[in-house]
Amino acid sequence: MNHLLTMTELTIEDIEGILYDARQFADGKAWRLGKQVFVANLFFEPSTRTRFSFEVAERKLGIDVLHLEETNSSVQKGESLYDTVRTLQAIGANAVVIRHPRDEYFNELKNGISIPIINAGDGCGNHPTQSLLDLLTIKQEFGSFKGLRVLIVGDIRHSRVARSNAEVLTRLGAIVSFSAPSEWQDETNPYGTYIDLDVGLKEADVVMLLRIQHERHDSSMTLSKEEYHHKYGLTIQRGNNMKTGSIIMHPAPINRDVEIAGELVEAKNSRIFKQMENGVYIRMAVLKRVLQYAEGGVLV
Ligand code: CP
Repeated sequence: MNHLLTMTELTIEDIEGILYDARQFADGKAWRLGKQVFVANLFFEPSTRTRFSFEVAERKLGIDVLHLEETNSSVQKGESLYDTVRTLQAIGANAVVIRHPRDEYFNELKNGISIPIINAGDGCGNHPTQSLLDLLTIKQEFGSFKGLRVLIVGDIRHSRVARSNAEVLTRLGAIVSFSAPSEWQDETNPYGTYIDLDVGLKEADVVMLLRIQHERHDSSMTLSKEEYHHKYGLTIQRGNNMKTGSIIMHPAPINRDVEIAGELVEAKNSRIFKQMENGVYIRMAVLKRVLQYAEGGVLV
């Protein structure tokens, strides 16, 4: 594996390998590169979980971390993304982690950049490391994906998490459904059928709520926050109607009492903070794979 850009480019074997390595890291296994390695983190969009879990993962692997602060860099002078990454490569970065608001920004880097690129989220396009940590969380809970019913709720159209997860979960044998207001349904995503939220909740093994992506909307929401919570939120009442043994997931950040009742965020069947913890192990596993390919390294 050279880069990690989208989930679609990963084979089932690749995915199983990453989940295996992540479980090894969760169990306390370590991995060392045996030489100095630099990874540059470039976040052109706000992030708390992805940014800091990459940094924790990098430090746990003994990697030297470089940060590009957009406001303090030559991006402010008009330097392109390509020239920024090419510069980091010339200076000695061994890999880059990039979050960018433009869908598939990585297409402009593929020709010319030889160090591994790890996509930490591109616009409405893809969020492969979030998808992998979601897969790890689901696998820990249910052991396998075959026949699992996964209901993805909310802003499907603008969600890179929905796009990455619906495709891979379908490929792994899960049955994906969506519930969303008509304005946020996504006809370009063929990996789920739209169903009524209250019907879907009773059958779903995994209820995956999405953040409302206000920053990607052309106009303001037609529903108020209260109306959204009433129609599409996981209210206390809906939480009580969930299938026995089912779990709640949300990539976060969370809009409490909009997408999910505040009281349910840490309910017994919520795995939201488990997802965040798994983010560190998954990012260690992804870094190991791309750096092992490029630089070698040993499990210790
Ligand atoms: N889930 C996620 O990508 O969160 P951040 O935007 O905080 O990284």
